[in-house]
Amino acid sequence: MKHLLSLEKLPRADFETILRDTVVFKRERGQHKTLPLAGQTWALIFSKSSTRTRVSFETGLRELGAGVMFLNANDIQLGRGEPIKDTARVLGRMLHGAIIRTFAQSDVEEFAEYSKIPTINALTDDEHPCQVLTDIFTFEEKCGSISGKVVTFIGDGACNMPVSWIFAAAKLGFELRIAAPKAFQPASEILQRAGGKIIVTEDLHAAAIGADLLYTDVWVSMGKEAEAAERLKIFAGYQINAQLVKLAKPGALVMHCLPAYRGKEIDAETFEAHADTIFTQAENRLHTQKAILNWAVS
Ligand code: CP
Ligand code: NVA
Repeated sequence: MKHLLSLEKLPRADFETILRDTVVFKRERGQHKTLPLAGQTWALIFSKSSTRTRVSFETGLRELGAGVMFLNANDIQLGRGEPIKDTARVLGRMLHGAIIRTFAQSDVEEFAEYSKIPTINALTDDEHPCQVLTDIFTFEEKCGSISGKVVTFIGDGACNMPVSWIFAAAKLGFELRIAAPKAFQPASEILQRAGGKIIVTEDLHAAAIGADLLYTDVWVSMGKEAEAAERLKIFAGYQINAQLVKLAKPGALVMHCLPAYRGKEIDAETFEAHADTIFTQAENRLHTQKAILNWAVS
C-alpha cells in the first residue's frame, strides 16, 4: 500500500519514478496506452480552497480511467464531528483511493492508517508534496537535472512549501537557501531530520546570489488569515522583483506555486516576465498528478 503523505518518507527511487513518468504522461496526454485506474473510484476530501490541485487531480483521475467525487469536508459528517478514523474506515471500504487537503498533517496520516487505501496529501499545514514534485519536474524540463543546482525560497520559510522543498533537497542533491524573517524560519528539528545542504537566512539578497531558481509562495497561507495584517508588515521586503532577479544566475527561473499576490511576495512586472514558466508549472500539476496516481496504484 503506497501513500504520498510527506516528501520526507518518499524514497529517492520513487521521486525518480514519478519525475520520469511525468515526462511520459505529459507527452502522451490524450493517448495513454493503458488506463491504470480503470474501474476505480477515488475521492477528493478538501477542507481548504483549491483551484490547481483540485482540477488537476479530478482531470488526471478521469483521464486515467477512474471515477471521482469531490467531497467538501464540511458537507460530509466529518464536518459535524465524525472522527477521521471512522470516516476513513467507511470510505476505505468503498473507494480505491483518497486525496486529502486539510490542516493537520496527523489527519492525513490517520486517514491513511485507518482507510487502508492509497492516500495522497494534497496540502496540509506541514507539507505540499505534490506541488514540489511538479516544481522539480518543471525545473528539470527547462534546465536539466536539479542535482547540484541552487534553489532559493523567499518568504514564509516555516509554511508547507519550504518544508517540502527541505525534504526534497537532501534526497535530490541540490542546495536549498531559505530567506525568511527570523520568526518564520523552518524549525531546526526539521532541518536536522532532512540533512543535505540547506542555508537559512534573513538576508534575501545574499540568498539570491547565483541561484538557479528563485521561488516564492504567499505570505499568508490558508488558515493564517487572522495573522494577515501582522504578516504583511513582517514580510514586507521579502519580495521577488527585478532587483532580486539580477542577483541570481543569468537566465535563472522564477517560480510561484500560485495563487500569487502581486505587489506582495512578487511584483507584477516580474510575475509577468516569468509567466510562461509559472503557468507551465501550473499545467504540469496535471501531468505530475497522473504520475503520482500511477505510482500509488503500482
Ligand atoms: N498551488 C496550489 O496548490 O494551488 P491550489 O491551492 O489552487 O490547489
Ligand atoms: N502556503 C500556501 C500554499 C498554497 C498552494 C498555503 O498553504 O496556503
